[in-house]
Amino acid sequence: MGFNKITAAEAASFIQNGDTIGLSGFTPAGAPKSVPAEIAKKAEREHADNKAFKINIFTGASTGQSCDGMLANAHAIGFRAPYTTNKDFRTCVNKNEISYSDLNLSNMATQIRQGYLGKVDWAIIEACEIEQVGDKARIYLTAAGGISPTVCRLAEKGIFVELNAFHSKSCMGIHDVYEIEDHPYRTPLMIMKATDRIGKPYVEVDANRIVGVIECDIPDEARAFKDADPITTKIGMNVADFLLANLKEGKIPPTFLNLQSGVGSGANAVLGALGQCPEVPNFNIYTEVLQDAPVQLMREGRVLSASACSLTVTNECLQGIYRDMDFFKDKLVLRPSEISNSPEVIARIGVCSLNTAIEVDIYGHVNSTKICGTKMMNGIGGSADFTNNAYLSIFTCGSTTKGGAISSIVPFCSHIDHTSHFVDAVITEYGVADLRGKCAMEKAEELIKVAHPDYQPMLRDYLKYAAKFGGHTHHCLSAAFAMHDTYVRKGDMRLTDWAEYVK
Ligand code: COA
Repeated sequence: MGFNKITAAEAASFIQNGDTIGLSGFTPAGAPKSVPAEIAKKAEREHADNKAFKINIFTGASTGQSCDGMLANAHAIGFRAPYTTNKDFRTCVNKNEISYSDLNLSNMATQIRQGYLGKVDWAIIEACEIEQVGDKARIYLTAAGGISPTVCRLAEKGIFVELNAFHSKSCMGIHDVYEIEDHPYRTPLMIMKATDRIGKPYVEVDANRIVGVIECDIPDEARAFKDADPITTKIGMNVADFLLANLKEGKIPPTFLNLQSGVGSGANAVLGALGQCPEVPNFNIYTEVLQDAPVQLMREGRVLSASACSLTVTNECLQGIYRDMDFFKDKLVLRPSEISNSPEVIARIGVCSLNTAIEVDIYGHVNSTKICGTKMMNGIGGSADFTNNAYLSIFTCGSTTKGGAISSIVPFCSHIDHTSHFVDAVITEYGVADLRGKCAMEKAEELIKVAHPDYQPMLRDYLKYAAKFGGHTHHCLSAAFAMHDTYVRKGDMRLTDWAEYVK
């Protein structure tokens, strides 16, 4: 290999205050780890010398502790987009120390190309292999597609490649790398089924743009999932029953739909439970993150094929995939996020989206991102990419959280990411609120039925107070956030006293 081998610290020494780095990866899967950690150390040294040092970060989605976490703790992030799940980063964002732009993930690469976010100085890309063929370098990505092709093409100062031995070279070939053309020259994405391929298995760049190759052996930093519990299992069974009823009624085609499932322990458990239901036909997946449960379902033959942006799985599961790549290679394809989440493809192939809500209001609006309307949780991720273009869009959530002190069904969402126009059904452990073809007040009836029994009378009381104001959606504005306000003041929504709010 004729590339310049350097250390992570040497790579970090190139990065200057105000630079923008574009990273591989999507979730901690496939994100670079050694160079960002060294940039964080550099930032600490610069700050100790009273020098300004902040960088801007463009990624596919979240990264891991050695990137978002260490850089946030080192106060080294100026601007960052899009989604992130890191607790330390979240703390800084909620103190407004970082300029954080939450974007639909399908749109991240486009917005970089459009110049909306400013220029990219450096690309830092994790790879399982890099080859030189003539004057070109072929970078073989690891566990995620993300925005790698775009940041590699646009990085003005050059590209660093983290050659991470933790990722087996057996994953060469799993990627389908394709970058969408600029407007108005976009051509259709010729993907008709989950595993159709339209690109190359590597990112290709001019070899002379590779400034350095950093060899390392660092595991991915994916979070462990909470085990399925009786509530998530019940939600999964309710989803399965709902899909089966739709199948029988002919509301979804007999060939079934491609499933998308969101991020987090809830989504993982729901998909697992769905796979366990023998009446649900074997299915294909078109999604952004593939978590542990669907990988197991692929092994069992329940999931026939999967298109994703990343393998957001535990390291044990990831190594299992690498070991058994002969089994997975014709069933699994990883794509850049603008393709895995492409509205065009999602709308064409027929997707049932399954995402997790933080809260849903009685008229079917969904909050995916902000706790009590103010504190950023993670970000919208790809939930709108899928929800807005799905054949059937479903949100799931436990009916309560924090030991019952918070109801997930509320009179009015404290922040709205998905309007009711795009939300077909909301499913909790208490059943299915099927919102299709219903007017606002009928939606309220359906949604109150799936609220926790502790909260159903409270929500009905709200509707009684709201009725006197009339309108298409009944609201008593002075009381619409009473449950949230009570939680903030008293720590438990069940203590809501409507008399304090109803005017
Ligand atoms: N009010 C306050 N806190 C709430 C809440 C609410 N209404 N709903 C959930 N939470 C808290 C939980 O208590 C939990 O807190 P903890 O970490 O202190 O235990 C935390 O949020 C996560 O909730 P959990 O039930 O563990 O859910 P999860 O791991 O399934 O994640 C989301 C749920 C909504 C945070 C996650 O799915 C997400 O980030 N979604 C947005 C992006 C998305 O949908 N992407 C998928 C597109 S493909």
